[in-house]
Amino acid sequence: MKHTRWYKNRVFYQIWPRSFADGNGDGIGDLWGVLEKLDYLKELGIGGIWFSPLYPSPNADCGYDISDYKDIAPEYGGMAAFEKVLEEAHKRDMKVIMDLVVNHTSDEHEWFRKSRERIDPYTDYYIWRPAGKNNRLPNNWDSHFEGKAWSWDEVRQEYYMHLFAVKQPDLNMDNHFVREEVKNIMDFWLSKGVDGFREDVITFISKKEGLPNDRLLPVFRGIFHYNHGPRLHEYLQEFKHEVLDRYDCVTIAEAPLVSPRKALEYVDEDGSNDFDMMIQFQCMCGNCLFLDYIPTPFSLRRLKYAFSSWQRKLNGKGWNLLYLENHDHPRVVSRYGSEQYRVESAKMLCASYMFQQGTPFVYQGQELGMTNWYPEHISEYEDVQTLNNHPNWPEEKRLKLYHRASRDSARTPMQWNSEDNAGFTTGTPWFHVNENYREINVADQLQDKDSVLAFYKKAIALRKKLAVVKNGVYREYMRLSGKVYMYTRTDGMHKLLVVASYSEKPVRVSPAFCTGFTKTYFDKNNCVLFNYPVSENGAAFTMRPYEVRVYYCDHL
Ligand code: NOJ
Ligand code: CA
Repeated sequence: MKHTRWYKNRVFYQIWPRSFADGNGDGIGDLWGVLEKLDYLKELGIGGIWFSPLYPSPNADCGYDISDYKDIAPEYGGMAAFEKVLEEAHKRDMKVIMDLVVNHTSDEHEWFRKSRERIDPYTDYYIWRPAGKNNRLPNNWDSHFEGKAWSWDEVRQEYYMHLFAVKQPDLNMDNHFVREEVKNIMDFWLSKGVDGFREDVITFISKKEGLPNDRLLPVFRGIFHYNHGPRLHEYLQEFKHEVLDRYDCVTIAEAPLVSPRKALEYVDEDGSNDFDMMIQFQCMCGNCLFLDYIPTPFSLRRLKYAFSSWQRKLNGKGWNLLYLENHDHPRVVSRYGSEQYRVESAKMLCASYMFQQGTPFVYQGQELGMTNWYPEHISEYEDVQTLNNHPNWPEEKRLKLYHRASRDSARTPMQWNSEDNAGFTTGTPWFHVNENYREINVADQLQDKDSVLAFYKKAIALRKKLAVVKNGVYREYMRLSGKVYMYTRTDGMHKLLVVASYSEKPVRVSPAFCTGFTKTYFDKNNCVLFNYPVSENGAAFTMRPYEVRVYYCDHL
């Protein structure tokens, strides 16, 4: 099947189903709710939806612990509702991709139940090891969410590996029966008509032979023995040749700790092309070191370095996935922008990434400039990752860290209007609604031509209209500035320039001087997107707090 790379012309929207829209009033977001909102997404200019997991799950990790890969959870509406959403999305020319979580399953999956009882062929579906002397763990690796990477199973009387929560045992991908299952699952959804997968921590699926101890510090201990493991390419190629190549689909890897150079081993379009795009984490490290839980002051230079190195190094070889938010990180306005200048900074951040080369993803609520959530008590948090971070610290200290770092901030219900529960549900919401929903919601922003939502709509439309955004050469200016991000996209006659201030203080810039664009280029009529009125025609100007301007000209 010809691979048309349709994803290069679209903007995706990520739905985290539990908190998007509740259609039946039980307090949990569902596919009936999604159905009602498809026109909203279409209006926004969205051409594809990524669904975080919709499968049956005990929800130890909000759906990333799957107990049945070939069904849709009843609370989300079951298979019938999914098929309807798929059909209606396709009618509106929106693609649909699923989350494929095959590094691990739920411990309540039938495979695990049979594996712990050594029922074939499931006996070796997971990574089991006997206890060492004095009950020693098989190795010293850490899990990402809950202590060490091994838990004892009373039934089988062995340890099993879990790189995430205790209830998320890792599959043994070296077992060919397991790979057959994965291919089967892929085929099941693709033949149903879905358009591809976002593959959860897929770079972790091949563990180093012998599972050796690691000398790294805690938290990441083990990661270099299972990230980009020895047989990863081989397995990916198997999935590709035996299943994915038969469909015109997209495959996206979630890839922690990957550099652009490493990424090219996977996304090079002339090479093995294991994936079409990768979700890298460098752009998530503007105010932390590797993890949100290791905070640092915000550094625009670090963020710009991440943006630009991916733009430069993938150019002409692979394709970037552009994002600023997803369900695993706090809200970007609260991280890289300013809650005080919420509207201005949300728009500025939008233009910062929307005109780079690649396929942009917008996470639910990002298009409204939703902000972090600041509960008063630890007990209000839900997320397994959050609650296991420094569980022994005093409450106040934990709360301060979680306010800043918790992904629960991105999981509060979508704010549809200023009515009860932000219009998310007519029942009791499963999770806290952010109190600011009266000021930040879809209904109000639809009425306001200067809203963050209106800005996103314009930015997406512009991106789709201007060919230079797809193919133009990317170049960054003022690289050393800690306040301004400036880049151009050019191809022959077409010139697009984005200049964005990440400061609440005024900053003087002279883009004509840096870029060599003529003075006439900076005619105010060429300013096609902005978050403050632009009245001057000057080629040098003072930027207001979190100001952004996008200039475009096709005849100079
Ligand atoms: C990455 C997912 O995005 C995250 O939400 C999940 O907790 C882990 N992988 C484990 O599946
Ligand atoms: Ca519901």
